Formats: sequence, C-alpha cells, structure tokens
Amino acid sequence: FRPKLLAGRRMLITAGPTFEPIDPVRGITNRSSGKMGFALARAASQAGADVRLIAGPVALATPWGVEREDVETARQMHDAVMQAVADYDVFVSVAAVADWRVAQPSDHKIKKTATQAVPSLSFIENPDILATVARLPNPPFCVGFAAESDNLETNGEQKRIKKNVPLLIGNLGPATFGRDDNEVVLFDASGVTHLPRSSKDALASVLIEQIARRLPDASLI
Ligand code: C5P
Repeated sequence: FRPKLLAGRRMLITAGPTFEPIDPVRGITNRSSGKMGFALARAASQAGADVRLIAGPVALATPWGVEREDVETARQMHDAVMQAVADYDVFVSVAAVADWRVAQPSDHKIKKTATQAVPSLSFIENPDILATVARLPNPPFCVGFAAESDNLETNGEQKRIKKNVPLLIGNLGPATFGRDDNEVVLFDASGVTHLPRSSKDALASVLIEQIARRLPDASLI
C-alpha cells in the first residue's frame, strides 16, 4: 500500500482570467480559458489533495471532488485567496490576473452618442496576489505561472526571484491560450527543466508530481 502523492496536503489554486468592469455591460479581461488551472485542480484532487479552486469567469465544469469559488475581479480573487490561504500548505497561482482595473467604473451604461467624444479610461494597479501570498510570514509553498512572449529562459528566472516563489512554471509562447495542449519550462533554485509538449490533462499530472517532490517533508517520493 502506497499513500497517494498529495494525501494530507491542502492545495489552493487560482485559475482563469479576471474581469474588470468599465460599466455594467463592458469590461476588460485577459485571455485565459482556465483549462490549465482546472486540469491541475483535477490532478491534485486525484493525487489525494484537498483542493480549493478560486476561478475567474470561465466556461468549465468543476472537477470532481474540488471545492470551487467563483469570482470576477482581481480584488475579489485577492480577497478570496487571502481569506482561505492560512488553511492551505500549497498555493498554485495559475490565474491570468488583470494587472490593472478601470479607476472609476460607471454605474450606468456609457451611452454612445453622435455628439460625445469617445470615452477615455484611466487605470489603477491591481494587487499582485501571488507576491502578496509569498510575502506572508508563514507562506504556503507557492507556485507561479508565467506566459512570456519571448526570452522565457531569462525572464522566467527573474520573475521567480521577483515574486519570491520556490517554483515558477513558464508557458512557452502565447499559442497556449484556449488550446488543449501546452509546453512548459520549470524554474527553481536548482535551474531550468524543460517538459515535452503534451495535453494539459497529461501535463497537469506531471506538474503535480513535480510540485509534490519539491514540498517540504516530501518523504514519500
Ligand atoms: O507578473 P506576471 O503577471 O507575469 O506573473 C504571473 C504570475 O503571477 C501568475 O502566477 C499569476 O497568477 C500571478 N499574478 C497574481 N496577481 C497579479 C498578477 C499576476 O497573482 N495581479
């Protein structure tokens, strides 16, 4: 009898985009289907972890056994994560969080009229959820994701250090959006590991294994 890889672990995962309103019918968002985060949640649950998934607006079914909370904006995602995080020993930040939100969203639909000039928007910065969690006095094991369009090898390690996380997973190229497959590179203190392109479901199981073996007290592996 061999206990499951993540038995007894509690994993908090963010997935999908965030949506930042401009007015009641418009908004800005990031390109993210949520497939990678949902696949990781499923794989972690199958590996025996107790999983809570905080999801932005996506059109995906909740993986079996996973506890899901839906949010819309980056601030809502931040608040949901901060409220839960003390109970979790692993935080996997897969969400494509909008870096900025509209400074003053309108309460009413902005009307398009022949006489008025086109509206201009000003933005303010959203909280960096991953960096905030990684700065906690007693943080969970934090895993970040990065979608870089170029120079991933240098930018990935710099981002890992900037975010202060032990493991950063870099997507190779923007071609991953909405697709069912992905190719990633792992950055940790010991260097860079390339994983072969595969389906997001298969990759999720490999990533869960990679995360599990880096956890403190990973004595079973
Ligand atoms: O800085 P950048 O957005 O490239 O970093 C990506 C990583 O940071 C991802 O893990 C993402 O989930 C996380 N992030 C976050 N909050 C933000 C921006 C990014 O948690 N406001």
